[in-house]
This record gives sequence, C-alpha cells and structure tokens, in this order.
Amino acid sequence: MAGKKAKAKAAPEPTKVKATSNGGPLTIALPRGRIFDEALPLFKKAGMDLGAADKPRAGRKLIIPIPEQNLKVLIVRDADVPAYVEHGAADLGIAGRDVLEEQDRDLYEPLDLGIGRCRMVVAEPEDHPVDEMAMVHLRYATKFPELTRRHLQARGVVAEVIKLYGSIEIAPLVGLADRIVDLVSSGETLRQHRLREVETILEVSARICVGRAAAKLRSDRIDDLVARLRAVI
Ligand code: PRP
Repeated sequence: MAGKKAKAKAAPEPTKVKATSNGGPLTIALPRGRIFDEALPLFKKAGMDLGAADKPRAGRKLIIPIPEQNLKVLIVRDADVPAYVEHGAADLGIAGRDVLEEQDRDLYEPLDLGIGRCRMVVAEPEDHPVDEMAMVHLRYATKFPELTRRHLQARGVVAEVIKLYGSIEIAPLVGLADRIVDLVSSGETLRQHRLREVETILEVSARICVGRAAAKLRSDRIDDLVARLRAVI
C-alpha cells in the first residue's frame, strides 16, 4: 500500500485480528464532531458521498450502510477509532494524530487529511510560571499521559502525570497541577483561564489509519480510497 508507515514493533499481534469480509462494504470508523464535519466534504469531493452518516439523516444510528458506494460507516468515539481499526472491526478509520500517537498502536497511516488541525501544548498559569530548575515536585494534568511522559522524558524533567478526561484547563487553577498538556485550537480556552503557552509539543491533524489485516486483504479498495482522497486534499 502506498505511503504506509510500517511499524517494527515487538508488541504481540492482537488475537482475532480480522478484516471485514472481502467483497463486502469497506468499513470506516469515524468520530462525530470536527473531524466528521471536515471529512464529509473531502470525501464528497473525492466522489464518496457519506451524507447518509450525517447526524440529521442518521439520527442515533451508529452503523450506517451506504450500499451505493459499497461502504459502511461506524460512528465511534475519537479515542476508540484505533481500537476498531487495529482489531479489524473497521477496515480503516480517521483519527487525530494526538490520539494515534498517544495510543501508538500497530496501524498504518497512509494519508494525513490536513483536517481537524490544532496543536498540543504545554501551558501554565500566567501568574504562576513553573521554574523547571527549582527541583520541586511538578504535576502535569492531561488527557494524553503517554505523550506527556515521552515529552518530559525527552526534556529530562521528572514530574508526576495526572490523567484527566476533560476540562483540563481548570487543573492548575484549583491546585491539582502545575501545568497542563492539552489541545489548543483558537486559544480562547487558555485565554479565558489566564493560562499561557509554554511550548508546542505536537502539530495535530487527522489521518487515515488502516489495520494490518485490512492493509493486506483489502489493499485494492483502500489504495483506491486513499488515492482519491489524496487527489483532493
Ligand atoms: C478542547 C481542548 C481545549 C479546547 C481548545 O476541549 O481540550 O479545552 O478544546 O479549544 P480552543 O483553543 O479553541 O479554546 P474539548 O472541547 O474537546 O473539551 P474537553 O475540555 O472536554 O476536552
């Protein structure tokens, strides 16, 4: 498959890896929200109309067949996309680089779609800047503990990482952490909480990810889909 990122990892191959049935619909795991909203026009431009999976038409349905394109869309949480794809429940998915790098699963990433752009940054209260040299016990709150640990390790900073699931910006304001690692888009949430960016640790956009089994068994259809999308981004 063109442009694939083969990972030589020692992790055991997951049991029961499958690809969805060979002649059947190609199954795509998609999260609702910004990625979905930006992916839809891109797919349309590439000749694949996923409009049936759009909220007003799909309602609460989470499995949406699109027989005229021989496709099937699974609506899943963004952080769950890699699991569906790695285990072969979806042939491919679209996930942010933040999620993909945090989970570091055994997936190919043949195409960056350039959508859902944001940055992962370290931030701290404007009026309580951290002195990294002061040898105090530092705490970082984040939804991305692995990426945060890797970043701190690379910088030689010893700190505690506290995993949260949302509203990260309040952690340093109420004494839970000294700094946060979080996504920034417009910067408005940081501004409203009087936090300042210390540094960017990852430029984020959404990527196509493909499982190992699907890359082998459904390569023709996946290569075609990737080529069509590549032509319009
Ligand atoms: C994300 C992110 C920031 C915010 C950044 O949160 O975690 O909180 O968006 O956007 P901005 O720079 O445009 O203000 P999300 O909306 O996903 O909610 P969460 O707090 O539950 O993570």
